[in-house]
Amino acid sequence: MIPEQAELEKLYAYPAGETAWVRSNFVSTLDGAAYDESGMSGSLGGDVDTRVFALLRSLADVIVVGVGTARTEGYEPVRAEDVDADLRERLGLAPVPPIAVVSRRLDIPDVLRSGGQLLITTSDAPGLDTLSGDMDVLAYGEGVIDWPAVLAELARRGLRRVLCEGGPTLHGTLVGHDLIDDLCLTIAPVLAAGAAPRIAHGPEAVTTHMQRAHVIDADGVLLTRWVRSHHV
Ligand SMILES: NC(=O)c1ccc[n+]([C@@H]2O[C@H](COP(=O)([O-])OP(=O)(O)OC[C@H]3O[C@@H](n4cnc5c(N)ncnc54)[C@H](OP(=O)(O)O)[C@@H]3O)[C@@H](O)[C@H]2O)c1
Repeated sequence: MIPEQAELEKLYAYPAGETAWVRSNFVSTLDGAAYDESGMSGSLGGDVDTRVFALLRSLADVIVVGVGTARTEGYEPVRAEDVDADLRERLGLAPVPPIAVVSRRLDIPDVLRSGGQLLITTSDAPGLDTLSGDMDVLAYGEGVIDWPAVLAELARRGLRRVLCEGGPTLHGTLVGHDLIDDLCLTIAPVLAAGAAPRIAHGPEAVTTHMQRAHVIDADGVLLTRWVRSHHV
C-alpha cells in the first residue's frame, strides 16, 4: 500500500536543526545494480519511485549531484512545476532548490552554468579562474573537496536540507567520510547482472550502521529510509 501524500511528507520530513542534514536518494535492483542496461536509473523504480523522487526534491534546500550523473541523466535547473509549491511555501522553503554540481575537472553541462546554480569543487581545480557562466562557486579544499567546509557553507546560506542524488562515486565519498545522515533507497524488483556499480563505491571501505526509519511495500517496489544510528 502506498501511503497518502500527507503521510509520505511526514515519513520523509527533514529533522529540525541548524547544521546540514545530508540525505541521499537512490534506487537499486535486487542484485545491487545502480542502473539498468541503458546506463540510467530513472525507470527502475517505476511511478512510485518517481513520486518519491519529486517529493524529496520538494523537501530539499539544495540538490547535490556529481557531474557524471548530471551529464548521463540530463540534469537541468529545477523548474517550479517540478516541485510541490504549496509544500515548499508551507515549510518556508525557496520556490525551487538549486542544483549543486560536484566536479574537479569542471566540464559542466552548459545548461547548469546558469545563475542560481552551484558548483562544488576544490580551490585548485584546473581552470576555475576562467570558468564561464554564472554559477555560484563553493571551492573548498586542495586536491580533494573539504566536505565539512562545504556543508558548513551550505548551512550558513540556509541550505541545510541537503539532498544528494548521486551518483555512486560522489555517494562513495560522502559515505567514506561518514557524512550521510539519511539514505532513501528504493529497491526495484529487478535483477540486472551486468557491470553496474552499487549505489556507493570508492577506495575507502567503511561500516556505517544505519537504522530503519521505514519500509513501505508499494506493490513490490520497496520504499525504504535509513538513518545513521547515532541520530536515532
Ligand atoms: N541508482 C541511482 O539511484 C542512481 C543515482 C545517481 C546516478 N546513477 C547512475 O550513476 C551513473 C553515474 O555514476 P558516477 O559514479 O560516474 O557519477 P557521479 O558521482 O555523479 O559523477 C562522477 C564525477 O563527479 C565528480 N565527483 C564525484 N564525487 C566527487 C568528489 N568527491 N570530489 C570531486 N569530484 C567528484 C567527478 O567529476 P570530475 O571528473 O569532473 O572531477 C567525477 O568524475 C549514471 O549511470 C547514473 O545514471 C544512479
